[in-house]
Amino acid sequence: MITLSPSLLSANFLNLQEDIEELNKLDVKYLHIDIMDGNFVPNISFGPGIVKHLRSVTNMVFDTHLMIEQPEKYIETFAEAGSDIITVHPESTKHIHRTIQLIKQTGKKAGLVLNPATDESILNYLIEDLDLVLVMSVNPGFGGQAFIPQMLEKISRIRQLIERRNPSCLLEVDGGIKIDNVSEVLEAGANVIVAGSGVFNKQGISNNVKSFRKIFEAYDK
Ligand code: DX5
Ligand code: ZN
Repeated sequence: MITLSPSLLSANFLNLQEDIEELNKLDVKYLHIDIMDGNFVPNISFGPGIVKHLRSVTNMVFDTHLMIEQPEKYIETFAEAGSDIITVHPESTKHIHRTIQLIKQTGKKAGLVLNPATDESILNYLIEDLDLVLVMSVNPGFGGQAFIPQMLEKISRIRQLIERRNPSCLLEVDGGIKIDNVSEVLEAGANVIVAGSGVFNKQGISNNVKSFRKIFEAYDK
Protein backbone atom coordinates (compact mmCIF):
# COMPACT_ATOMS: atom_id res chain seq x y z
CA MET A 1 0.00 0.00 0.00
CA ILE A 2 1.42 3.37 -1.02
CA THR A 3 0.36 6.44 0.93
CA LEU A 4 0.53 10.12 0.07
CA SER A 5 1.43 12.44 2.94
CA PRO A 6 0.81 16.03 1.79
CA SER A 7 3.09 18.52 3.54
CA LEU A 8 1.11 21.24 5.27
CA LEU A 9 4.04 23.64 4.87
CA SER A 10 2.89 24.49 1.34
CA ALA A 11 -0.81 24.81 2.25
CA ASN A 12 -2.68 28.11 2.46
CA PHE A 13 -1.96 29.37 5.96
CA LEU A 14 -4.70 31.98 5.67
CA ASN A 15 -7.20 29.17 5.36
CA LEU A 16 -5.78 25.87 6.55
CA GLN A 17 -9.21 24.47 7.33
CA GLU A 18 -10.30 24.77 3.70
CA ASP A 19 -7.24 22.85 2.47
CA ILE A 20 -7.68 20.18 5.14
CA GLU A 21 -11.33 19.75 4.24
CA GLU A 22 -10.41 19.26 0.61
CA LEU A 23 -7.92 16.55 1.61
CA ASN A 24 -10.60 14.96 3.82
CA LYS A 25 -13.06 14.88 0.90
CA LEU A 26 -10.45 13.17 -1.25
CA ASP A 27 -9.97 10.64 1.56
CA VAL A 28 -6.26 11.44 1.88
CA LYS A 29 -5.11 9.46 4.90
CA TYR A 30 -1.91 11.18 6.05
CA LEU A 31 -0.93 14.78 6.74
CA HIS A 32 2.80 15.60 6.97
CA ILE A 33 3.35 18.30 9.58
CA ASP A 34 6.76 20.03 9.54
CA ILE A 35 7.82 21.51 12.88
CA MET A 36 10.85 23.82 12.60
CA ASP A 37 12.54 25.74 15.40
CA GLY A 38 14.97 28.09 13.62
CA ASN A 39 17.89 26.25 15.28
CA PHE A 40 18.00 22.73 13.93
CA VAL A 41 16.94 24.15 10.56
CA PRO A 42 17.15 27.73 9.28
CA ASN A 43 13.39 28.29 9.29
CA ILE A 44 10.55 28.56 11.81
CA SER A 45 7.15 27.02 11.05
CA PHE A 46 4.60 26.51 13.84
CA GLY A 47 4.15 24.63 17.08
CA PRO A 48 1.87 22.19 18.90
CA GLY A 49 -0.96 24.74 19.25
CA ILE A 50 -1.63 24.58 15.50
CA VAL A 51 -1.46 20.77 15.60
CA LYS A 52 -4.14 20.76 18.29
CA HIS A 53 -6.44 23.00 16.23
CA LEU A 54 -5.92 20.83 13.16
CA ARG A 55 -6.80 17.75 15.21
CA SER A 56 -10.23 19.21 15.85
CA VAL A 57 -11.10 19.28 12.12
CA THR A 58 -9.74 15.98 10.83
CA ASN A 59 -9.06 12.32 11.66
CA MET A 60 -6.09 12.13 9.28
CA VAL A 61 -2.92 10.42 10.51
CA PHE A 62 -0.69 13.25 11.70
CA ASP A 63 2.80 12.45 10.45
CA THR A 64 4.80 14.91 12.54
CA HIS A 65 8.33 15.68 11.35
CA LEU A 66 10.25 17.33 14.20
CA MET A 67 13.07 19.53 12.93
CA ILE A 68 13.87 20.90 16.38
CA GLU A 69 16.76 20.71 18.83
CA GLN A 70 16.16 18.48 21.86
CA PRO A 71 12.94 16.96 20.54
CA GLU A 72 12.75 14.81 23.69
CA LYS A 73 11.44 17.88 25.52
CA TYR A 74 8.40 18.16 23.26
CA ILE A 75 7.41 14.59 22.44
CA GLU A 76 4.76 14.40 25.14
CA THR A 77 3.35 17.77 24.02
CA PHE A 78 3.03 16.72 20.38
CA ALA A 79 1.57 13.37 21.37
CA GLU A 80 -1.09 15.18 23.42
CA ALA A 81 -1.72 17.70 20.63
CA GLY A 82 -2.75 14.83 18.35
CA SER A 83 0.32 13.56 16.49
CA ASP A 84 0.11 9.90 15.44
CA ILE A 85 3.60 9.42 14.05
CA ILE A 86 6.52 11.39 15.47
CA THR A 87 9.82 11.46 13.56
CA VAL A 88 13.13 12.77 14.86
CA HIS A 89 16.59 13.44 13.42
CA PRO A 90 19.55 11.70 15.15
CA GLU A 91 21.58 14.95 15.03
CA SER A 92 18.95 16.79 17.07
CA THR A 93 19.18 14.71 20.25
CA LYS A 94 22.03 13.35 22.40
CA HIS A 95 20.54 9.89 22.92
CA ILE A 96 18.57 8.90 19.85
CA HIS A 97 17.75 5.40 21.12
CA ARG A 98 16.26 6.87 24.29
CA THR A 99 14.30 9.47 22.31
CA ILE A 100 12.80 6.75 20.09
CA GLN A 101 11.75 4.82 23.21
CA LEU A 102 10.18 7.99 24.61
CA ILE A 103 8.01 8.32 21.51
CA LYS A 104 6.94 4.69 21.83
CA GLN A 105 6.08 5.17 25.50
CA THR A 106 3.49 7.77 24.50
CA GLY A 107 1.80 5.07 22.40
CA LYS A 108 2.61 6.88 19.14
CA LYS A 109 4.52 5.54 16.16
CA ALA A 110 8.23 6.35 16.08
CA GLY A 111 10.27 7.34 13.04
CA LEU A 112 13.91 8.17 12.37
CA VAL A 113 14.76 10.87 9.79
CA LEU A 114 17.97 10.74 7.78
CA ASN A 115 19.28 13.93 6.22
CA PRO A 116 20.75 13.64 2.71
CA ALA A 117 24.32 13.28 4.04
CA THR A 118 23.45 11.15 7.07
CA ASP A 119 24.80 7.61 6.84
CA GLU A 120 22.05 5.02 7.07
CA SER A 121 24.31 2.65 9.05
CA ILE A 122 22.73 4.07 12.22
CA LEU A 123 19.70 1.95 11.29
CA ASN A 124 21.73 -1.16 12.14
CA TYR A 125 21.16 -0.31 15.79
CA LEU A 126 17.59 0.97 15.59
CA ILE A 127 15.63 -0.63 12.78
CA GLU A 128 13.74 -3.15 14.94
CA ASP A 129 12.47 -0.30 17.14
CA LEU A 130 11.14 1.85 14.31
CA ASP A 131 7.69 2.10 12.75
CA LEU A 132 9.01 4.35 9.99
CA VAL A 133 12.23 5.54 8.36
CA LEU A 134 12.06 8.96 6.69
CA VAL A 135 14.68 9.65 4.03
CA MET A 136 15.18 13.35 3.31
CA SER A 137 15.70 13.99 -0.38
CA VAL A 138 16.38 17.70 0.24
CA ASN A 139 18.13 19.43 3.12
CA PRO A 140 15.40 20.11 5.67
CA GLY A 141 14.13 23.63 6.20
CA PHE A 142 12.10 24.69 3.20
CA GLY A 143 9.48 23.50 0.78
CA GLY A 144 9.98 23.76 -2.96
CA GLN A 145 13.61 22.56 -3.19
CA ALA A 146 14.98 20.21 -5.87
CA PHE A 147 15.13 16.44 -5.28
CA ILE A 148 18.69 15.16 -4.70
CA PRO A 149 19.03 12.18 -7.11
CA GLN A 150 21.77 10.42 -5.10
CA MET A 151 19.04 9.59 -2.57
CA LEU A 152 17.55 6.95 -4.86
CA GLU A 153 20.32 4.43 -4.14
CA LYS A 154 20.09 5.19 -0.44
CA ILE A 155 16.34 4.49 -0.51
CA SER A 156 16.99 1.13 -2.25
CA ARG A 157 19.59 0.13 0.32
CA ILE A 158 17.25 1.00 3.18
CA ARG A 159 14.42 -0.93 1.48
CA GLN A 160 16.66 -4.03 1.50
CA LEU A 161 17.48 -3.57 5.17
CA ILE A 162 13.79 -3.15 6.04
CA GLU A 163 12.86 -6.32 4.12
CA ARG A 164 15.50 -8.26 6.04
CA ARG A 165 14.94 -6.97 9.54
CA ASN A 166 11.58 -5.19 9.95
CA PRO A 167 9.31 -5.65 6.92
CA SER A 168 6.37 -3.77 8.45
CA CYS A 169 8.46 -0.60 8.91
CA LEU A 170 7.29 2.17 6.57
CA LEU A 171 9.76 3.86 4.23
CA GLU A 172 8.90 7.51 3.67
CA VAL A 173 10.69 10.01 1.41
CA ASP A 174 10.45 13.79 1.78
CA GLY A 175 11.56 16.65 -0.42
CA GLY A 176 11.28 17.67 -4.05
CA ILE A 177 8.84 14.92 -5.01
CA LYS A 178 6.54 15.80 -7.88
CA ILE A 179 4.25 13.92 -10.24
CA ASP A 180 7.07 13.69 -12.79
CA ASN A 181 9.69 12.09 -10.50
CA VAL A 182 7.64 10.09 -7.99
CA SER A 183 7.94 6.88 -10.05
CA GLU A 184 11.69 6.71 -9.44
CA VAL A 185 11.13 7.09 -5.69
CA LEU A 186 8.55 4.29 -5.69
CA GLU A 187 10.80 2.15 -7.86
CA ALA A 188 13.55 2.55 -5.24
CA GLY A 189 11.19 1.18 -2.58
CA ALA A 190 9.41 4.03 -0.80
CA ASN A 191 5.83 3.46 0.37
CA VAL A 192 5.00 6.82 1.96
CA ILE A 193 5.44 9.86 -0.27
CA VAL A 194 5.62 13.39 1.13
CA ALA A 195 4.72 16.17 -1.28
CA GLY A 196 4.26 19.84 -0.40
CA SER A 197 4.65 22.06 -3.44
CA GLY A 198 3.66 19.06 -5.57
CA VAL A 199 0.19 18.99 -3.95
CA PHE A 200 -0.58 22.60 -2.99
CA ASN A 201 -0.04 24.47 -6.25
CA LYS A 202 -2.04 26.10 -9.00
CA GLN A 203 -3.07 22.80 -10.58
CA GLY A 204 -5.21 22.33 -7.48
CA ILE A 205 -5.11 19.84 -4.63
CA SER A 206 -7.67 17.52 -6.15
CA ASN A 207 -5.98 17.22 -9.56
CA ASN A 208 -2.60 16.65 -7.94
CA VAL A 209 -3.82 14.02 -5.48
CA LYS A 210 -5.53 12.16 -8.34
CA SER A 211 -2.40 12.30 -10.50
CA PHE A 212 -0.23 10.93 -7.67
CA ARG A 213 -2.72 8.15 -6.99
CA LYS A 214 -2.79 7.13 -10.63
CA ILE A 215 0.98 6.59 -10.54
CA PHE A 216 0.80 4.81 -7.16
CA GLU A 217 -1.61 2.21 -8.63
CA ALA A 218 1.16 0.82 -10.81
CA TYR A 219 3.33 0.12 -7.72
CA ASP A 220 0.66 -0.94 -5.25
CA LYS A 221 0.87 -4.60 -4.36
C1 DX5 B 1 11.46 20.25 4.25
C2 DX5 B 1 10.24 19.55 4.75
C3 DX5 B 1 9.36 19.01 3.72
C4 DX5 B 1 8.79 20.03 2.75
C5 DX5 B 1 8.57 19.30 1.45
O1 DX5 B 1 12.22 20.60 5.34
O2 DX5 B 1 10.62 18.48 5.60
O3 DX5 B 1 8.33 18.21 4.28
O4 DX5 B 1 7.61 20.62 3.16
O5 DX5 B 1 8.19 20.21 0.49
P1 DX5 B 1 8.36 19.91 -1.07
O6 DX5 B 1 7.51 18.70 -1.38
O7 DX5 B 1 7.83 21.15 -1.70
O8 DX5 B 1 9.82 19.67 -1.34
ZN1 ZN C 1 9.05 17.10 6.26
